[in-house]
Amino acid sequence: MPRLPAELAAEGLRRAKAIECFDFVPSNCCVVYAVLSALPRARLCEWGSGMGVVTGLAQTLGFDARGIEIDPRLAAESRRLLADFGLAPKITTGDYLQLNCPVDIYFTYCWPGQMSRVEERFAVIAPDHARLLICHGAEDIRCRVKE
Ligand SMILES: C[S@@+](CC[C@H](N)C(=O)[O-])C[C@H]1O[C@@H](n2cnc3c(N)ncnc32)[C@H](O)[C@@H]1O
Repeated sequence: MPRLPAELAAEGLRRAKAIECFDFVPSNCCVVYAVLSALPRARLCEWGSGMGVVTGLAQTLGFDARGIEIDPRLAAESRRLLADFGLAPKITTGDYLQLNCPVDIYFTYCWPGQMSRVEERFAVIAPDHARLLICHGAEDIRCRVKE
């Protein structure tokens, strides 16, 4: 990974340790970066953006990226982190199962028990041909395409 995204990911991990959020487990930024690098640049929304690292990595790669995060402390910290790295993607505080966000690529790392709900939501609200990048583990990112 180039220096800026690598430093962003490392600093995101460091700052996350100060925030108590049961639901926050980061994905593997190197794997995410490799996956995003291989995709055509488009609009991307990180569902459950945590510290905003994936959203930030996507922006450095040229995606029109944004994030939605339900935990207000994580949302606020992610905005600070991204600003400190000269990035300003929109991070909305809220529930991605409720908010509408028409984009070309959705990225999410949710609990296994939430996956079918997330996939149903994607099927209902995503534009045709949109991709859902869904983590089945920190390093296992799978892609679903809406037909
Ligand atoms: C496993 S963490 C992944 C964080 C980040 N996307 C990553 O890949 O490193 C899941 C994140 O989703 C957030 N989250 C869970 N349910 C959510 C919902 N319904 N709407 C928005 N955010 C949610 C959690 O607060 C947490 O920050």
